[in-house]
Amino acid sequence: MKAEVEALVEELKRLRKAGVSRVNVSDSAIQALRKRSVDKGVDTSTREAVLSSIPERVRSADAKDFDKVFTDTSTETKRAASQSGGPKLPRAPLVNLVKGDKQAQWEALREQVMGCVVCKGRLKEGKKLVFGSGNLDADIFFCGEAPGIEDEDTGVPFSGPAGDLLGKMIGAMGLKRGDVYIADIMNWRPEASTERGKRPPTVEEMNFCMPYLKGQLEIVQPKLIVALGATAVKGLLGAANVKNLRDVKGQWTEFAGVPMLPTYHPSYLIRNDTKRDKRSAWEDWLKVMEKAGLPISDKQRGYFS
Ligand code: URA
Repeated sequence: MKAEVEALVEELKRLRKAGVSRVNVSDSAIQALRKRSVDKGVDTSTREAVLSSIPERVRSADAKDFDKVFTDTSTETKRAASQSGGPKLPRAPLVNLVKGDKQAQWEALREQVMGCVVCKGRLKEGKKLVFGSGNLDADIFFCGEAPGIEDEDTGVPFSGPAGDLLGKMIGAMGLKRGDVYIADIMNWRPEASTERGKRPPTVEEMNFCMPYLKGQLEIVQPKLIVALGATAVKGLLGAANVKNLRDVKGQWTEFAGVPMLPTYHPSYLIRNDTKRDKRSAWEDWLKVMEKAGLPISDKQRGYFS
């Protein structure tokens, strides 16, 4: 708890420096901050930094939801956390977009992620954190699960084989990669037991990075989200709400108020290179094109049939 409060103080100081004047702070966080000042007899400047960072408490429905998610103590979360092998993560970061245009907001958020002590602490030596990239005015926002082995070298999501296939599918829609926005739920590659090994992110890890993803959505304001693969879908909709991808694949749902379509992850399509799976994926992509208002030719309608 102590480490979490210290992290919160640092975060509030950073936000104040970045010009943020309103933040969502839960009652429990305020109590913890008050207790800290009593316990520590904190110096005046820290007290002022903390208090002036909370000029207005905004308790939105969203903040309440976040409280629920981030204090998730379900057996699944505990088991996932223990499987992750790492120490328990602190409470998820606060994200407040700075004033300015989309580019300025994106750069400030990227800087926050690049400076995130928790994210950096989970990186293997010489590897990079990964932040979303693409068109900040994109209609279509692709969301994957976590950086792959190539991505933690480049710092760019989907820069390996799965990204090549994603790029081809974007091309089949008549778009370029630079026309869309691509991000992952996670900003670091979950550590696996071997160098090339991989494991899906835990619920706790995804919950920690979620405010960073939500921040990107708030900046881009896409028409729709395409959720790639079961892990991303579970991370976005909540593992308790989704048992299997097939139960939700190809059906419009919503995340953060934005229409969202769950579909196969490109890696799945690489592993299952069948006409049936490709057609099934393509039918989802046609739904995306329709919703985004993209023109669809007869040739495009017939791909993989
Ligand atoms: N690379 C990513 O950036 N995300 C994935 O989900 C897989 C590979």
